[in-house]
Amino acid sequence: MEDAKNGTGWSAEGFERLAEARRSVRRFSDVPVPEEVMRKAFRSAHLAPSSNNLQPWEFHWVRSGSPQREAAVVACLSQPAAATSAELVFFIARPDLLEARAAAMVAHFEAAENAGTASYYRDQVGPSVAKMDSAKRSAWADKSVALAAQQFMLAIKASGFDSCPMEGLDPDKVRTLFDLPQEALVTMAVSVGQGIPEGLYGPRLRFPLADHLREH
Ligand SMILES: Cc1cc2nc3c(=O)[nH]c(=O)nc-3n(C[C@H](O)[C@H](O)[C@H](O)COP(=O)(O)O)c2cc1C
Repeated sequence: MEDAKNGTGWSAEGFERLAEARRSVRRFSDVPVPEEVMRKAFRSAHLAPSSNNLQPWEFHWVRSGSPQREAAVVACLSQPAAATSAELVFFIARPDLLEARAAAMVAHFEAAENAGTASYYRDQVGPSVAKMDSAKRSAWADKSVALAAQQFMLAIKASGFDSCPMEGLDPDKVRTLFDLPQEALVTMAVSVGQGIPEGLYGPRLRFPLADHLREH
């Protein structure tokens, strides 16, 4: 039966199935992931929402044949999800660039002759970012980057491939690998490939939704 499209061209049922189908897969076959699958997923990741639209992310894609591949796997502690992957992506948060991004927004809205939004970024967003302490800036940037990573993983699944998010990694090694400043945060790495059955370490486990959902 075809899903109801609600006049939108996509279906809520289809999305629910996609969310159900995405699993963290720790072992992959040696089937390559087409470049276009990766590029589509990056485009989707890039459409993630971010606080004040400052887009505090960088996506570092270590491609299958990259000279940095081996060091990237080691930076992920050589866990099987990284070692057997076809592609590896590091989702990096750049709290150190927040003022620069706010300034870029000012420039964008000035050029668009939108004085109100330009002054919002100049007079409110810029100063509020500038006075955040380092812990707050980091948390602020990290959460938006995590949304981009999730959007990326769903897009990968929508293209018929699998992924695994990883924070079991050595952030100093990742920063060294990509020549990143100390303030850059490794929000997570995501490995991508065609999952194999042994890559699923067990059935989906969630506490009952009723334990998490509070209706007010
Ligand atoms: C931020 C984050 C970090 C994670 N780090 C790892 C990791 O280093 N290694 C790993 O095998 N799985 C890792 N996972 C995967 C989780 O274990 C997995 O999402 C969880 O068990 C639920 O399973 P599911 O994703 O298949 O629903 C991570 C997940 C998230 C969101």
